[in-house]
Amino acid sequence: MANLSDESLNILFGEARTFSVWTREPVSDKTLRDIYEQAKWGPTSSNSGPARFVFLRSQKSKERLRPALAAGNVEKTMTAPVTVIIAYDLKFYETLPKLFPHNPAARDAFSRNPQLVEATAKRNSSLQGAYLMLAARALGLDCGPMSGFDNAKVDEAFFGAGKCEDCEQEFFPEGHVKSNFLCNLGYGDRSKLFHRSPRLEFNEACTLL
Ligand SMILES: Cc1cc2nc3c(=O)[nH]c(=O)nc-3n(C[C@H](O)[C@H](O)[C@H](O)COP(=O)(O)O)c2cc1C
Repeated sequence: MANLSDESLNILFGEARTFSVWTREPVSDKTLRDIYEQAKWGPTSSNSGPARFVFLRSQKSKERLRPALAAGNVEKTMTAPVTVIIAYDLKFYETLPKLFPHNPAARDAFSRNPQLVEATAKRNSSLQGAYLMLAARALGLDCGPMSGFDNAKVDEAFFGAGKCEDCEQEFFPEGHVKSNFLCNLGYGDRSKLFHRSPRLEFNEACTLL
């Protein structure tokens, strides 16, 4: 297997930063679809793919989000070309006959065990959010992940009952989709970055047994 070049690794990790200030360059719907087409291949347990992604592109949809945001996250979110709600579907097991067809018992094993459903949905949607960020970086975009918001307010505004006028598809109105975290997407303004914080060294974070 070929390794990625140092340049590619820097795009994904070494020089990839968390952005709060964005250039005016827009992000097309095709780019958002291309990001998903890469991110969807990341592994999840039982191939369950519990994450659901809501891409907020319009000012109108951003305004629905605004009241849920922590004060420090308002400006960066309202000025980002796109904000993604990374959510999870607590009824993800309904898709297992399609996604995990070689184990017909999987659906019922989850449907009988709400604790397993919640742990699986949270763990794997977090992973899928990370795959989405790496896919976005691989396709030249920058990310600004955020957990500083009120999940209950986001769930009420986006996953509550009622018809969403500006949604492409109506797959989350029945109360079983919950927000995990948010991520701004766009082309970041590198001139506005502050000094990068260090990371733990290998010996601080890892051990070899
Ligand atoms: C799940 C998650 C939640 C975060 N929440 C916030 C947030 O609410 N507000 C914020 O300004 N930054 C937030 N951050 C950004 C982190 O502080 C940032 O990614 C970290 O300091 C590393 O910065 P760097 O990528 O520039 O090295 C969050 C990051 C992640 C991954």
